[in-house]
Amino acid sequence: MCGIVGYSGPNNSVGPIIEGLSRLEYRGYDSAGICLKINNELQILKKEGKLDNLKSLIQEKKPFSHIGIGHTRWATHGAVTADNAHPHGNELFAVVHNGIIENAGALKKELQKEGFEFKSQTDSEVFLVLLTKFFKESKNVLSSISKAFSTITGNSAFVIIEKQSDKLYCLKRSAPLVVGDNKETREAFVSSDPFALVGFAPRIYFPEDSVICESSVNSSEVTIKFYELNLTPSNRYKIQGNAMSVDITSKGPYEHFMLKEIHEQPYLVEKLAAYYIKDEGRKILDQLVNFKTDCWHITACGTAWHAGLVIKNYLEQINRQRASVEIASEFRYKNPIINQKEIGLFISQSGETADTLACQELCKESGISSFAIVNVEGSTLYRNSDKNFLIHAGIEIGVASTKAFTLQVLTGYLMSRSMKSSLDDPKLFIELKLLSTRISELCSESDKIKKIAEKIYHQKGFIFTGRGKYFPIALEGALKLKEIAYVHAEGYAAGELKHGPIALIDEEIVNIAIIGPELFEKTISNIEEVKARRGKIVVIGPDHNAEIEHLSDAYLGLNFEGLNDLSPLYVNVALQLLSYHIAYLKGTDIDKPRNLAKSVTVE
Ligand code: AGP
Repeated sequence: MCGIVGYSGPNNSVGPIIEGLSRLEYRGYDSAGICLKINNELQILKKEGKLDNLKSLIQEKKPFSHIGIGHTRWATHGAVTADNAHPHGNELFAVVHNGIIENAGALKKELQKEGFEFKSQTDSEVFLVLLTKFFKESKNVLSSISKAFSTITGNSAFVIIEKQSDKLYCLKRSAPLVVGDNKETREAFVSSDPFALVGFAPRIYFPEDSVICESSVNSSEVTIKFYELNLTPSNRYKIQGNAMSVDITSKGPYEHFMLKEIHEQPYLVEKLAAYYIKDEGRKILDQLVNFKTDCWHITACGTAWHAGLVIKNYLEQINRQRASVEIASEFRYKNPIINQKEIGLFISQSGETADTLACQELCKESGISSFAIVNVEGSTLYRNSDKNFLIHAGIEIGVASTKAFTLQVLTGYLMSRSMKSSLDDPKLFIELKLLSTRISELCSESDKIKKIAEKIYHQKGFIFTGRGKYFPIALEGALKLKEIAYVHAEGYAAGELKHGPIALIDEEIVNIAIIGPELFEKTISNIEEVKARRGKIVVIGPDHNAEIEHLSDAYLGLNFEGLNDLSPLYVNVALQLLSYHIAYLKGTDIDKPRNLAKSVTVE
């Protein structure tokens, strides 16, 4: 969603702000802007479209300022225009916002009746106008921020600069926001993501909800202060070093981050296996030995939800424990039945997905423990969980999640195995190593998958099918393809096709059929039905099979031997590569697909 970067210090703020926004580009956005305080005036530059458009404007104007805020906007209220882009400013303040002000409509009407004017159609400007109104009444910035924030509803993060001082103010409610400082260089920073501050701020502060942070810099020091909304000093924040390195932003020899991240999987699988079986992670999993619960309430969104579906199978089949997997945006509003001996399990790469966080809140209110399978250490989900199971994927820049899915599922698998029997079982490590090898083989055979993509990329629609443990993979394969190739793709349980979707089949439709060694004959019958209706058939299935060879238009033979419960992950990597090659042939923006955001921090 929206990216935020703010700077205050002795240098030109334009450099760190634009660098920070560039690093957040992968999250998705549709316009960008910056506000700089120059000669005691707040000057705003905004452009629709890519950050490069804003960079060209900056190149032309060459502004210099010691304090500024920048923003990449992912439109929610109001069209994608320069007027609706952030920052929003007036003669007193400039504001950037990430989130949604739910009562913006009603507030705007009231403010208009009072004579206030609006320059944009955004909800964000309502905050600016409220702030201005309260400031005109009180002449006190902090109390005006507090009052404006208390007037609005919904989840949001704001950064504010004002004409009369060089202070950066920020606060948030259930939206990501961090503050950073560098005591040596006397610089203060604000961002929606610590990644934007790597190399700038060695120290990161994580304020809790409704804590106002005020950063100021003078000729001898940088001062960061925290206040409650009643303006008493607050200690509701955590401090952490920023250990990330800037190198992680490089694509290395790959043309896209997505491809790089797919190729990282063999190494990451082994690394995760070593962490949880042999190294420090073992202590975390050992706490689960003999762990039992009446029901696991798994909630997540998108790809993470698909990971949840695979993990549910593990919990049911390996542990014989009940698990329900729900889409977070559904669970949170369904008045779910939650009993005391149950556990909430939340899966999220970013740890900032608004709907997933809301489910966690709901489970906590119901008095049950909250476990998380999460990538970003220090994220809101991480901080609010009773137990965290980190997936150690490193930063995932491609908007389409690949390595995070694999490692989420693998973490769930190891959790499930640790509840069942000793992780010292040498077969377990061999199985994980085998998965890594098979994924590596797939990556090196990427050209074979490319040839399949060349045969089908121009087709109108794609139906992914799978049975049992491959059904979630059919859903994930279809999601990946639609995300990056912008084509219609759906995932179905293979047996479900004849209950409706088969009506779609004709020569313009491709059935990507996942066939595992299990239920082989039944899945073959399903593809016969598609073939009879002139649909194109691509099979991802056991290798060297004459029957499949005969039936399919294209066939990727896989070696399932020895992978057992991990085979869905193997198949999924083949589908990741297939989507990548189809998208490549279609010429789409693979790493930053249109309309998508990397972490969805609004409902
Ligand atoms: C994955 O390719 C998607 N971009 C998306 O579905 C994502 O998995 C979902 O938004 C959940 O994100 P999270 O894992 O950060 O919570």
